[in-house]
Amino acid sequence: MEFSTNTSVSIHQVKTAALAVGVFTDGVLSPAADVIDRACHGAIRAVMKTEFLGKANTTLVLRNLEGVASARVVLVGLGKQADYTARAHTSAEKAFASVCVHARVTEAISTLAAIACPGSTITDRARNAAAAACEATYHYDATFGKPDPDARPKLKKLSLLVTRSDNAAAELGLKQGAALGQGVSMARTLGNLPGNICTPTYLGETAKKLGREFKSIKVTVLDGKQIAALGMGSFLSVSRGSDQPPRFIVMHYKGKAPAKAATKTKPGPVVLVGKGITFDSGGISIKPPATMDEMKFDMCGAASVLGTFRALAELELPGEVVGLIPTCENLINGSANKPGDVVTSMSGQTIEILNTDAEGRLILCDALTYAERFKPSAVIDIATLTGACVVALGGVNSGLFSKDDELADSILKAGKQAGDTAWRMPLEDDYQVQLKSNFADMANIGGQPAGAVTAACFLSRFAKAYRWAHLDIAGTAWKGGAIKGSTGRPVPLLLQFLLNQKA
Ligand code: BES
Ligand code: MN
Ligand code: ZN
Repeated sequence: MEFSTNTSVSIHQVKTAALAVGVFTDGVLSPAADVIDRACHGAIRAVMKTEFLGKANTTLVLRNLEGVASARVVLVGLGKQADYTARAHTSAEKAFASVCVHARVTEAISTLAAIACPGSTITDRARNAAAAACEATYHYDATFGKPDPDARPKLKKLSLLVTRSDNAAAELGLKQGAALGQGVSMARTLGNLPGNICTPTYLGETAKKLGREFKSIKVTVLDGKQIAALGMGSFLSVSRGSDQPPRFIVMHYKGKAPAKAATKTKPGPVVLVGKGITFDSGGISIKPPATMDEMKFDMCGAASVLGTFRALAELELPGEVVGLIPTCENLINGSANKPGDVVTSMSGQTIEILNTDAEGRLILCDALTYAERFKPSAVIDIATLTGACVVALGGVNSGLFSKDDELADSILKAGKQAGDTAWRMPLEDDYQVQLKSNFADMANIGGQPAGAVTAACFLSRFAKAYRWAHLDIAGTAWKGGAIKGSTGRPVPLLLQFLLNQKA
């Protein structure tokens, strides 16, 4: 997608295939809707007395309005003016983009970002508008025998109408939104690809490709021998159950340092750790078959790190970010983990594997230990870690666990800004007793109660050397049912967190 701004004051004379204007309920028109309504002698006010009430997420297409140059004016309902928020703006942009996709237009103009709403800047709204358009035009056809060319969205150009004084800020937001959109699309496609294609080797190659495309990202991909040499006995125990070889991906992004940073002491990098189980059968503690196919999405944490790196490099953000991805399959062969096995992690702590399906924490713990060498300013791990988190929070919020209030608050804030929210969950030491083992330093499960919390407690034992937060994205990384597919979350949250770092 291509994005631009338009600062014309007489929008009724601007020619485009589809022009979005916002209307609120109770007959309240946005300034742009008012300009169009006057140009066409009240056609908008007329339909608002009959079929269009301006309710949120509703749209009405008006074609060939007299006195208006655009072929289509798309009325986009914004709901009650008093309740209008940045979130409502983003969903209005999404609704408009999907009208454009269905109408098969190739270019369009939206006037929606120009409408002020509390707590958001024009940069925020432009970024969200671009990201919403990318989301609506996302299309997966990588694994169809004969991809239908007609099914591919035609929308290629979106322009935002803004005032002259807002222009530079809107352009910045569009640039950020375009990069974010690409990062989200990349994460979605990696998630959607089947386990027989998107293997640990494939993820390693994808990372290397990013490194070739962007000089700012240095990529190293370690193989099984190198992983063994590091002493990652816990990670390796999971990978041994599969014929697919494991990979440990290390990505190092270095942005051009801001000029004044030279005088300050250099802060350590932010480290992002993504769970990369390319298929989770559960292992010997095998999962039920009904929705097991969805366990190809068990690498969405890894995909979100790769997508965030793509956006980061595209935007040439200042600062330093490290991405770590332990990736393997959780399958069943003669070498697979067995309940009762005890393994030794890279940290030296031993783990009794009481359930082979709690494998995410077994690969993440060694990556968390590896992260210490970067002396990070903060570490965030991202994982489709527990079904319990889906029970607790559903598909609305990712679960956020951290003992550091400042870090937790900045992650929650970034999520709100990006419309990719997280909800903070508890992490008190009182839960740690559930991980007691009679035969090792800890067990890998803590029983039924508070399953998402005890998983986070397990990880916390390996993340003592730095400020750390854990995002459980089991409920938010993909959707099931008829609209089954990856969401690309939490790339928007992560990128926003990194954007806020420099500010
Ligand atoms: N990848 C799953 C978590 C998961 C399950 C995500 C369902 C989304 C939907 C993870 O590896 C897992 O199997 N966790 C177990 C842990 C349990 C054995 C303590 C779970 O949640 O059942
Ligand atoms: Mn599992
Ligand atoms: Zn898993």
